[in-house]
Amino acid sequence: MKPGLALFLTGLSGAGKSTLASALGDRITAATGRPVTLLDGDAVRAYLSSELGFTREHRDLNVRRIGFVAAEVARHGGITICAAIAPYAAARAEVRHGVARFGNFVEVHVSTALSVCESRDVKGLYAKARAGMLSHFTGIDDPYEVPVDAELSIDTAHVSPDQAVDRLMAWLQHRDFL
Ligand SMILES: Nc1ncnc2c1ncn2[C@@H]1O[C@H](COP(=O)(O)OP(=O)(O)OP(=O)(O)O)[C@@H](O)[C@H]1O
Ligand SMILES: [Mg+2]
Repeated sequence: MKPGLALFLTGLSGAGKSTLASALGDRITAATGRPVTLLDGDAVRAYLSSELGFTREHRDLNVRRIGFVAAEVARHGGITICAAIAPYAAARAEVRHGVARFGNFVEVHVSTALSVCESRDVKGLYAKARAGMLSHFTGIDDPYEVPVDAELSIDTAHVSPDQAVDRLMAWLQHRDFL
């Protein structure tokens, strides 16, 4: 049996994490028959972390919970794709070490620039943050620590979702991670 795998997509709101996570999950299952568990930031905040806010402490706790689930799935040989802003490097490193005990961990920096994310403003949150109606918004008045140890970096301003998924699949297949 192949070892477990966690793909951890981090980046600003609107960078394309959920879009890529969902397309990549479908592609992995189509190619391998292996099921993929999506741990998307919005779903995790709704179902596992609904009591948490956006202080550093709460953001880190949210990311740790995602990491715990990803490690448990990896322990049994499963695949997760996590899609969370995860702005702090230390919390991302904790997830990396937690998963690496049981399987492969791949950090993907969805590196789409703030200006592009803001112009997309899929959820209307950048407008609210700029208007002062929302505080602690990553990239506006809250930090994002750019990953220095990501295995892959994808800027969705320059590649389509399909191209991004092609690149991720090629990378994973080359390493025999699927
Ligand atoms: N090449 C691309 N890859 C991914 N998304 C793209 C691309 N080009 C345009 N988009 C669009 O950018 C938006 C990205 O939104 P998405 O919800 O995936 O971001 P997110 O990183 O999950 O944000 P959040 O942290 O708020 O959940 C979508 O509307 C998507 O259609
Ligand atoms: Mg998302």
